[in-house]
Amino acid sequence: MTEIFKTTLGSIQEVDSLSYMRESISDNSIDLVMTSPPFALLRKKDYGNMAEGEYVNWFEAFGKEFFRILKPSGSLCIDIGGSWIPGQPTRSLYHFELLIMLCRKLGFHLAQEFYWWNPSKLPTPAEWVNIRRIRVKDAVNSVYWLSKTPWPKASNRRILYPYSDSMKSLLKNGYHAKTRPSGHDISNNFSVDNQAAIPPNLLAIPNTESNSYYLRYCRERNLTIHPARFPSILPEFFIRMLTDEGDLVIDPFGGSCVVGDVCERLNRHWICCELDRKYTLGAIGRFDVESQKEQIYDATFYKIFNPSSLWEVNDIEPLNTDGGKERRLKIKKSSEGKGINQ
Ligand SMILES: C[S@@+](CC[C@H](N)C(=O)[O-])C[C@H]1O[C@@H](n2cnc3c(N)ncnc32)[C@H](O)[C@@H]1O
Repeated sequence: MTEIFKTTLGSIQEVDSLSYMRESISDNSIDLVMTSPPFALLRKKDYGNMAEGEYVNWFEAFGKEFFRILKPSGSLCIDIGGSWIPGQPTRSLYHFELLIMLCRKLGFHLAQEFYWWNPSKLPTPAEWVNIRRIRVKDAVNSVYWLSKTPWPKASNRRILYPYSDSMKSLLKNGYHAKTRPSGHDISNNFSVDNQAAIPPNLLAIPNTESNSYYLRYCRERNLTIHPARFPSILPEFFIRMLTDEGDLVIDPFGGSCVVGDVCERLNRHWICCELDRKYTLGAIGRFDVESQKEQIYDATFYKIFNPSSLWEVNDIEPLNTDGGKERRLKIKKSSEGKGINQ
């Protein structure tokens, strides 16, 4: 028995999802695989991560099963973060290699790639970003939306968002049809008020949960809080866009079962697989009535500065010709006269 919890819509399976898919899920039966697998991180998480060199091989067996169990209209969405090469300020290619393997070797189609921007992401690795100042904050994860055929079912009408102020004024004051410098012909159709805007493939979602029912549930019972939860708005975006009520969604790397939680609210059938009992125990709390009533919508608008905003006032200093290989700290006098690291 691997089923440790169930509702009328879904179940949490405490199991290795690879064996579970092989033994219990039939071909062409799943509408959406929505997941965030363990990443190949430099700093290992508690639940164990594959080394970047072994990652693609490890994932391939899962990828084959995803392809087999998905319906022809189905989708696979993978939230994945990049990683650094140990000891040097360069990036691993593992998540690109993963994407290439899934498409070139297993036959998936890349329906679209998304970027999840987490505005609250800390600047890491501190050595390259804060101390040597030779790289910038890595604040996006990729979300690969893959499909078994080039025509997965989908509608962007399900995930519209409010017009920006500039779009509202454009709609109010009218728009003159013209050709842009890029050569694009902007027709009058652009001034039709559709009540809401089509989102770009950049999703701004902070990961700052601090007082949710799930957290309180775990704290009160002394249960382990999952250290790598994604915000529910992320899977909800794809579940809304790619599935209908009554469809079946699986998360093979379920963690704290955010995917099951969202599906339960949206009336989708769901299966969450998670190997580790210390996470499934907390996941069960997500299905308490009070938890299910919790408000999870967020109407925050993020403003991203144009990168040129401060160019005029920044100090122009020569670049280190060794690319920052030697660690040099710049000491600046603060107003109190104390030296501060900058
Ligand atoms: C990045 S976490 C997922 C977190 C989840 N999205 C959430 O928001 O809570 C990946 C999870 O996959 C689990 N895992 C790793 N290999 C697994 C396997 N073969 N079968 C089931 N779960 C697995 C790990 O224990 C870990 O909890």
